[in-house]
Amino acid sequence: MSVLEVKNLKVSFHTVMGKVEAVKGVNLQVNSGEVLGIIGESGSGKSVTSLAIMGLINSATGLVESGEILFEGRNLINLNEKEMCKVRGDKISMIFQEPMTSLNPVVTIYKQLREVYKIHRPNKKNNCKDELVELLTKLNIPDAKGVLNKYPFELSGGLKQRIMIAMAMICKPSFIIADEPTTALDVTTQSEIINLLKQIKEESNSGIMLITHDLGIIAEMAQRVAVMYYGKVVEECSINDFFDNARHPYSQDLLGAMPENFNGRFKSIEGNVPNLYEDIKGCPYYKRCKKRIQKCENSQPPMMDLNDNHRVRCFRYEKGDGK
Ligand SMILES: Nc1ncnc2c1ncn2[C@@H]1O[C@H](COP(=O)(O)OP(=O)(O)O)[C@@H](O)[C@H]1O
Ligand SMILES: [Mg+2]
Repeated sequence: MSVLEVKNLKVSFHTVMGKVEAVKGVNLQVNSGEVLGIIGESGSGKSVTSLAIMGLINSATGLVESGEILFEGRNLINLNEKEMCKVRGDKISMIFQEPMTSLNPVVTIYKQLREVYKIHRPNKKNNCKDELVELLTKLNIPDAKGVLNKYPFELSGGLKQRIMIAMAMICKPSFIIADEPTTALDVTTQSEIINLLKQIKEESNSGIMLITHDLGIIAEMAQRVAVMYYGKVVEECSINDFFDNARHPYSQDLLGAMPENFNGRFKSIEGNVPNLYEDIKGCPYYKRCKKRIQKCENSQPPMMDLNDNHRVRCFRYEKGDGK
């Protein structure tokens, strides 16, 4: 059953150089108990999509132009800030990329975690310590009692990320977004955090949207994958189809750039994601695509269903299976 559904989401920003559309009509769906992996180069709109779901697009510069974010029968886009506050951190929560900057440096861990109770479980706010010790211990945080009395600077990066994860888990949300949760961490700590996310996935029935550029993490965690490019989803399929049968040339190039495919030579995708200020008529991957056909230069490919569980935005599949 789908826990969250994003339909035709468009988000734009006003900048000194003019208006840019960072998310250009994204459709996504996450089922409960499932991890949807989101991948794609930097700048493809992954974080903006998640911030829009959380209702955190700064209205001073950004605007959700259109679309629907359906959660528990409501369109979150229509909620006002007060209503959204009730949902955020309670029913849906987010683990950010930077644990260092997401925690308040001058407030103890206990007080920061207690804030969640103050907002969402006010009746428990004065005696939440035991519950917090239990939660932190469950999340493999050693000496949970001691950690609660510490300030963020006294903790390692990995421990701070565990605290961020604990904060996201306090109210047992039914939908969690993890935006590059391991990017700022060293490799050993990364695998500890991944194990922790796996544990959460197994123990809860939450739907998880996991954003990462690490295909290894995707392989370990996700059941389905959505590949984003230039503000749109360009392919969506099961994890097995992604690794064995990816159809979009961009997905294929991403897979080709995995370390085990280097064969001693570093292989990367040449070129860059187009600038959002550029006026692009055709497929945004056209310039970099090794499989482009003439049509791709001047018209945008629509999303095509290859089957019930596999969609791809590429003209090669217009007439069925054009590998
Ligand atoms: N606050 C902002 N102001 C202006 N442009 C923004 C802002 N946030 C994001 N963008 C634009 O949206 C694009 C996509 O950003 P983002 O979603 O953060 O990418 P990523 O896929 O790396 O997470 C960026 O390349 C940038 O051009
Ligand atoms: Mg990002």
